[in-house]
Amino acid sequence: MLKMNNIVMTYDPGGINELCVFNDFSFGVKKGEFVSLVGSNGSGKTTLLNIICGTLAQTSGEVYIAGENMSHKKDYYRARRIGRVLQNPSLGTCPNLTIAENMALAENKGKKFDFTFCINKKRISAYRDMVRELSLGLEDKMDVKMGSLSGGQRQAVSLLIATMIPIDFLILDEHTAALDPLTSETIMHLTDKTIKEKKLTAVMVTHNLRYAVEYGDRLVMMDKGRVVMDISGKQKQATAVEDVLKIFNDISIECGN
Ligand SMILES: Nc1ncnc2c1ncn2[C@@H]1O[C@H](COP(=O)(O)OP(=O)(O)OP(=O)(O)O)[C@@H](O)[C@H]1O
Ligand SMILES: [Mg+2]
Repeated sequence: MLKMNNIVMTYDPGGINELCVFNDFSFGVKKGEFVSLVGSNGSGKTTLLNIICGTLAQTSGEVYIAGENMSHKKDYYRARRIGRVLQNPSLGTCPNLTIAENMALAENKGKKFDFTFCINKKRISAYRDMVRELSLGLEDKMDVKMGSLSGGQRQAVSLLIATMIPIDFLILDEHTAALDPLTSETIMHLTDKTIKEKKLTAVMVTHNLRYAVEYGDRLVMMDKGRVVMDISGKQKQATAVEDVLKIFNDISIECGN
């Protein structure tokens, strides 16, 4: 589903802040795979996700999604095939639009503007059914502005919105990090359910090692722009949080942290 070949990513090339995050980095994700991606601050996780989405252009190397070379395709071209939920619940949806309006907008993502946005208001009852599935009682708040929902409610709707049209890829960048522990669990369950039911291919960045161990069928750890751990299947099932934490700490000690 995803193939990244020989990626080089240098921020500010030739400038005083030149920083090479990836040097000949290759990575792949199979169709239907749910990858949990962990790693210390600054190891390159968000940079990786931004390159996949096309919001950041790699210095060199190729990115293929579903067999198509995306390397020089603009982010708006990729947007219809990639759903994304970010750490900040305020991002990813329009705070001044209602839940229903945000959903209508998402349904038309990547299409040329016509009057379908207005016509889709007729789809409110279908949207309400989708929102009911979240089991958060938001189906009675379809006309409430996104900006007045709680962070957890917004992340739940953001997840729904990111996956409501058929996508090749779901990208989650610390999407539970800003939530309280209970809401975070709720969103994590919802994420897992959505990925399984919609048979999505997903990459989830998290600093919560327990989530990385409990969820997903592959666990990847990054350090300084390299993959330092990559386990799946039985090997992942046999891995405990403590095992991952030990590797994490050993790397940090090596780095002098
Ligand atoms: N826009 C940018 N310009 C210059 N350097 C950047 C930019 N974005 C990230 N970096 C640098 O690239 C490196 C990787 O950053 P990145 O955001 O990918 O890390 P991360 O693994 O997502 O970290 P975190 O866990 O803190 O979110 C860091 O050293 C960071 O300072
Ligand atoms: Mg990050």
